[in-house]
Amino acid sequence: MRLLFTHIKGLLQTFDTVPTLRRGATLQTIPCIENAYLLIENGNIADFGTMPNLPVGSRAGAKVIDASNRFVLPSFVDSHTHLVFAGSRESEFVDKIKGLTYEQIAANGGGILNSAKKLQAADEDELFDSAWQRLNEVMRTGTGAIEIKSGYGLTPQDEIKMLRVIKKLQKYAPITIKATFLGAHAIPKEIDRASYVSQIINEMLPQVAAEQLAAYCDVFCDEGFFTVEETDKILAAATALGLRPKIHANELAVSGGVQIGVKHQALSVDHLERIGAEEIEVLKNSDTLPVVLPGSVFFLGLPKPPVRQMIEAGLPLVIASDYNPGSCPSGNMPFTIALACIQLRMTPEEALNAATINAAYALGLENTHGHIRRGIAANVLLTKEMPSYQFMPYSFGNQPIELVVVNGKLWE
Ligand code: NIG
Ligand code: FE
Repeated sequence: MRLLFTHIKGLLQTFDTVPTLRRGATLQTIPCIENAYLLIENGNIADFGTMPNLPVGSRAGAKVIDASNRFVLPSFVDSHTHLVFAGSRESEFVDKIKGLTYEQIAANGGGILNSAKKLQAADEDELFDSAWQRLNEVMRTGTGAIEIKSGYGLTPQDEIKMLRVIKKLQKYAPITIKATFLGAHAIPKEIDRASYVSQIINEMLPQVAAEQLAAYCDVFCDEGFFTVEETDKILAAATALGLRPKIHANELAVSGGVQIGVKHQALSVDHLERIGAEEIEVLKNSDTLPVVLPGSVFFLGLPKPPVRQMIEAGLPLVIASDYNPGSCPSGNMPFTIALACIQLRMTPEEALNAATINAAYALGLENTHGHIRRGIAANVLLTKEMPSYQFMPYSFGNQPIELVVVNGKLWE
């Protein structure tokens, strides 16, 4: 099975070796081969180059797609989602329009606990079906690898149920899915906080590890949710069981989340709406990746994370959707990229690097995703006709993608 794209206006993010994390000067640039071809064979990227160098015979037996006036780029990597959930929360959306804050909505029994009640009442099949539909939607908008968290179960039984749904998605979905255990998402009303933290550590985590239900462990380390001390204990237990931390930090307050994440060598600390020079310094001296979530900043009207300062400090920034029913009911990566540009003042180059190469690192997929290289599985996108790749975020809200290739196959 061969697939050949010819006359590509710009073939983006091509490399001969695995690209390093994009920061500083490399965050500002996107390699672009003009008037290019891309040959895909047996699911993998076989070759690419400029049209005058297209080897004779490349068309033989191939499905040929003329990509004139269009761009080809690697699929997006979405490193932070809560894509498995039951029901929706548009009534809270209306409350928010009327002036209630995220914290007030949560205090009124809304928020995460509202989603937990709905998820506890749903069975695995229902959860799978709705998540499957969402996964297909985000694949249509270019997501080629994704992380999915638990965190709406909040009891041992329901957290495991969520993770089993994610495991089933991993089995049937054509794209790579990484699972994260987020039992520490909120404290249920029925149990005191010390007992819940102990349940996470002594009941949930051992079962998650025994059944290999997750690669990562997340904690919502923020005001009104989990304290730094609780986060410390949970992450120590998770690490001992082989789950790498990846946490929600500094969304609602200067929570100490960044520092505790770095202490536990978290793969990433995500949100970061409320960080300053101190947290940036801590991140600079670590291997922990900073992930910002432009969709939830936009949807909740949160303060903007200090993206320009992070970039100036040389941090390898990542952007992700945060797809969830409360703070970002969209997993559309082209829109996330547009928001990163429009609202957080990232350039199109910075935002594309943050959603491809750097995002792949945030899921440990840097060898296989987020770039185009001979020999790796072909997970690429063909844009619609456009004058430049900067047109993608500029023309926000419009579907910029014409075709999606998943593991070398055209995906309808
Ligand atoms: O990443 N901040 C914590 N968790 C989610 C929101 C969850 C919800 O509101 O349901 C987030 O924004
Ligand atoms: Fe989140």
